[in-house]
Amino acid sequence: MPEIKSKLPSVGTTIFTVMSSLANEHKAINLGQGFPDYPMNAELVELVNKAMKDGYNQYTHMCGLPALRERIAEKIEGLYSTTISGDSEITITPGGTYAIYTALTTVLQPGDEVIVFEPAYDSYIPNIEINGGVPVLIPLVHPEYKIDWDLVKQKISPKTKVIMLNTPHNPTGAVLGADDIKQLQGIVAGTGIFILSDEVYEHLIFDDKKHESMLRYADLYERSFVCFSFGKVYDCTGWKMGYCVAPPALTKEFRKVHQFNAFSCSTPVQYALTEFLPNKENYLQLGPFLQKKRDRFLGLMKQTRFKPLPSHGSYFQLYSYADISTENEMDFAIRVTKECGVAGIPVSAFYKNGKENKVLRFCFSKKESTLEEAANRLLKL
Ligand SMILES: Cc1ncc(COP(=O)(O)O)c(C=O)c1O
Repeated sequence: MPEIKSKLPSVGTTIFTVMSSLANEHKAINLGQGFPDYPMNAELVELVNKAMKDGYNQYTHMCGLPALRERIAEKIEGLYSTTISGDSEITITPGGTYAIYTALTTVLQPGDEVIVFEPAYDSYIPNIEINGGVPVLIPLVHPEYKIDWDLVKQKISPKTKVIMLNTPHNPTGAVLGADDIKQLQGIVAGTGIFILSDEVYEHLIFDDKKHESMLRYADLYERSFVCFSFGKVYDCTGWKMGYCVAPPALTKEFRKVHQFNAFSCSTPVQYALTEFLPNKENYLQLGPFLQKKRDRFLGLMKQTRFKPLPSHGSYFQLYSYADISTENEMDFAIRVTKECGVAGIPVSAFYKNGKENKVLRFCFSKKESTLEEAANRLLKL
C-alpha cells in the first residue's frame, strides 16, 4: 500500500470536533462551536427554494454571480465609503475559510514568513504551512488581547510576506482600534508585505465600536485580501458561502487559484443573496441583537464564579476560571463538560504550542433558554 508523507504531520482532530463529540456523549449544552442554535431568516430560505424551483441549479460564473458582486460592492460603499469593482475586486467563495486559504495559496512561496497573532482561528497556521510558509507567532497581550506593535516591528524580516489580522477576533472578541490602524500603516508603508484581513465578524461588533475594515484605508487596502462570510451574517454557517475583496491585480491571481479548486459556488444561494442583500436592516441589526445576547449571558453568568474578560465583538465571550480551579484549560474544559454538562473551548487550543491563562471560550449566539440553562449548570462549580 502506498504511504502518505503527511503535509501536516502535527495536525490532529480540531478542538471543535473533540469538544462537540464530548458534548454529544455527555448530553452537554454545546457553547463550544460558533454557530446560532436559533432559526435563520425564513425569507432567505424561501428565496433559495424559489431560485431552485426557478431552475437556477447549474454552474454560475467562476467569480460569482455578477449581480451579487454588484450588490456587495454597493454594501461596501455604504458601510466603508469606498468604491470597489464587483467585476475586478470581488470573488464569491465557498466560505470565509476557503477565501483565507486561497489568498495564502495565491501569495506564499516556500520559506515566506507570515505574522500570525495568537490565539488564532485554527485554520490559519495549517493553511500557511501547507503552502510552505513559516508562521511567525506573536502572542496577543492577555487579558485584553491587544497587539504588541513593538514586538511586531521586531519580528518583521526581509522574508515577511503577509500579516494576518482578524477583527472582531475569534476567540477573544477583541477589536482593532484607530491606534492599531496607525501602527499597521507605519509598519507596512513602503514594504512588499500583504495583509490578509479576516473580517467575517464585521457586523458582530458591540459597545459603539467602529469596525476597522482594511476597506476604509486606501494605503492598507492596496495590499489586502479582505475575507468575509455570509454564514456569520445570516445565521447560516452550514451554507459555507463567503467572498474575498482585493485590488484588481491581487484578485486576478486569487482567481487563478480559485478557478482550479472550487471553480464556482452554489448558484441558487447566490441568486437568493442577490435579492436579500439590499435589505440593510438584516445586517445592521445583527450587532445590537448579539450585543443583547452577550449582555444577557454576562448577566446570567454573574451568579457563577467565572470572571468575564472584555469582549467587544464576535460570537464569543471569554471567562477566567482562575478562582475555581488550578487545572489546565483542556482538563478543566473536559471536566466542565462531563460534570456540569456545558461544553466550552479551552483558549490554549488556539495556540500552536498551547498557552495557559485559565480561560475558556463560550459562544453566546444561542437561544435565551440555552444560555439560561448553561449558566444554571455552571453554578455547580
Ligand atoms: C475567525 C474566523 N474566520 C473564518 C471563519 C469561517 O467562516 P466560514 O464558515 O464562512 O468558512 C470562522 C468561523 O468560525 C471564524 O471564526
